[in-house]
Amino acid sequence: METTRKVAGPTPPSLDPGARQRTARRVRIGAWTLGLLPLALLLWETATRGLGSNPIEKVLHHTGWWGLFVLVLSLAVTPLRRWTGINALIQARRTLGLFAFFYIALHVVTYVGLDQFFAWGYILEDVLERPFITVGMLSFLLLLPLAVTSTRGWIRRLGRNWTRLHRLVYPAAILGVIHYIWGVKTEALAPFLFAAVVALLLGTRLYFAFRKPPRPSP
Ligand code: HEM
Repeated sequence: METTRKVAGPTPPSLDPGARQRTARRVRIGAWTLGLLPLALLLWETATRGLGSNPIEKVLHHTGWWGLFVLVLSLAVTPLRRWTGINALIQARRTLGLFAFFYIALHVVTYVGLDQFFAWGYILEDVLERPFITVGMLSFLLLLPLAVTSTRGWIRRLGRNWTRLHRLVYPAAILGVIHYIWGVKTEALAPFLFAAVVALLLGTRLYFAFRKPPRPSP
């Protein structure tokens, strides 16, 4: 959901323009590979083993899990860039953000179309009465404007407000994790691992936002 905006930060001085281009290409290929992996896994599983006795549930779980996973990966890009000094990593943020939205939208469409057969009354009831669906819906509604405004045109039009708007990705991820924790029927560790990683990424973000600039040396 975030863009390829240039962010000031360290760049390894040894990188010549050719090496930089190669790094940027590798980052692009890596981001697309990661983004397409969940789709490839789903197609592979369907072709080789089928989707089991409850294919709708299987697709719901697959798209929900991978949607959240890729969203968290997109949040990890900025801290990773700061840590490694590889500025080209920033290009992966938008690609991963949009792939995350793609899987989450597929997740919601599976629920609305295949699980509930577009029964809007029941869907509304679910949203109002099942807290785990309520927070899932809130998370989706927060992600929607981010996906819509990911284009260069919107980035230009919104200016500084674009950055402010895209901070919504954090509450969206938190609500996504709560949805996961409340939604799982068995005791599982995975949702809490997601919660820990999101907390760590948000903490890093806050640390850099509120850190005092270093004093100039005398
Ligand atoms: C309108 C919004 C949403 C609806 C109606 C919805 C619905 C569902 C349903 C019915 C399940 C299956 C629960 C079960 O029976 O075990 C599920 C699981 C899940 N959803 Fe959503 N969801 C929504 C939004 C989201 C969003 C925005 C995210 C991520 C940011 C997300 C991530 C997940 C995850 C991680 C799971 C668990 C997957 C697993 O068990 O491996 N969902 N969701």
